[in-house]
Amino acid sequence: MLEQLDTLEQEALAALAQANDPGALAAWKQTYLGRSASLSTFLGDLGKLPAAERPLAGKRGNEVKRTLEAAYAAGEERINAAVLNHALQSEALDVTLPGRPLRRGRLHPSTLILRRIYAIWAEMGFQIYRSPNVELDDYNFTLLNIPPHHPARDMWDTFYTTEEGVLLRTHTSPGQIHAMREFAPAPLRVILPGMCFRYEQITARSEIQFHQVEGLAVGPGITFANLKATLADFARRMFGEGARTQFRADHFPFTEPSMEVDVECFVCGGKGCPVCKFSGWLEILGSGMVHPTVLRNGGYDPKVFSGFAFGMGPERIAMLRHGIEDIRYFWGNDLRFLEQF
Ligand code: PHE
Repeated sequence: MLEQLDTLEQEALAALAQANDPGALAAWKQTYLGRSASLSTFLGDLGKLPAAERPLAGKRGNEVKRTLEAAYAAGEERINAAVLNHALQSEALDVTLPGRPLRRGRLHPSTLILRRIYAIWAEMGFQIYRSPNVELDDYNFTLLNIPPHHPARDMWDTFYTTEEGVLLRTHTSPGQIHAMREFAPAPLRVILPGMCFRYEQITARSEIQFHQVEGLAVGPGITFANLKATLADFARRMFGEGARTQFRADHFPFTEPSMEVDVECFVCGGKGCPVCKFSGWLEILGSGMVHPTVLRNGGYDPKVFSGFAFGMGPERIAMLRHGIEDIRYFWGNDLRFLEQF
């Protein structure tokens, strides 16, 4: 019987040496130290032995039990260390490997040119004034001296909404009225940037949505000479000292007199090509002296105050600066275009 215990002890220790993972260890414990293990049965049945054999059998039995328990604890430590080691090796990070580059976003070319335009006008003392994209017919037309049913409305192909008198602004000029009504009767000098919308055929030169930057200066004694000098200065700051500009008489209902400003064509250098419609010039803005009716609608007395206004196209300006031949690239979402800025 004592030999049986010796055999059991040896067998158990040999089996434990073979166990190399937590699952095998648990199975081993179940087999040799579990409730129904032969050692447990043996210790439980000690009372059934003849009294003379009991002390020795009990002593040896408990010895084996303690040995196996100690062996189990050692085995557990060995296996846990092995598991940890394996994890450390297989999950190791090589911190010396070069990192994976993150693709960086960038600003849209329209945003870039707008910021450049803001900076130039800020240097000249113009502050930014925001006005809504969705406008009332009154602000977009009537208060700008374009009465209902007047043919001048045909200059702008308009997106109307289902709400009577509500439309998407066709230009930033309605902001003139908002700004004047807020500042009058104090003098003002503002630019009004934002998106405009026109129900137009899309071509290389025209889109259904585009930015404009409106400018407005109102004060006592502002003249047409001030307007010309200011716009020529803007063109030099934007396109460089040598930039050639051309002023052309034009008509807008809300300015009198009115003119358009052209910059020499970037493609042909002024010789004439399809991009500039063989004129050698590209139009970048419309402008003029604020019409007395518009001044009055804004809350100024035209006998005391005068002013100038202009509306420029940032996408057109970006096209000139970067040699972009088609305005449709701006909202085409083509990364090959956008990534160049
Ligand atoms: N609002 C005009 C347009 O969109 C441009 C303009 C603005 C002209 C201000 C004169 C004065 O065509």
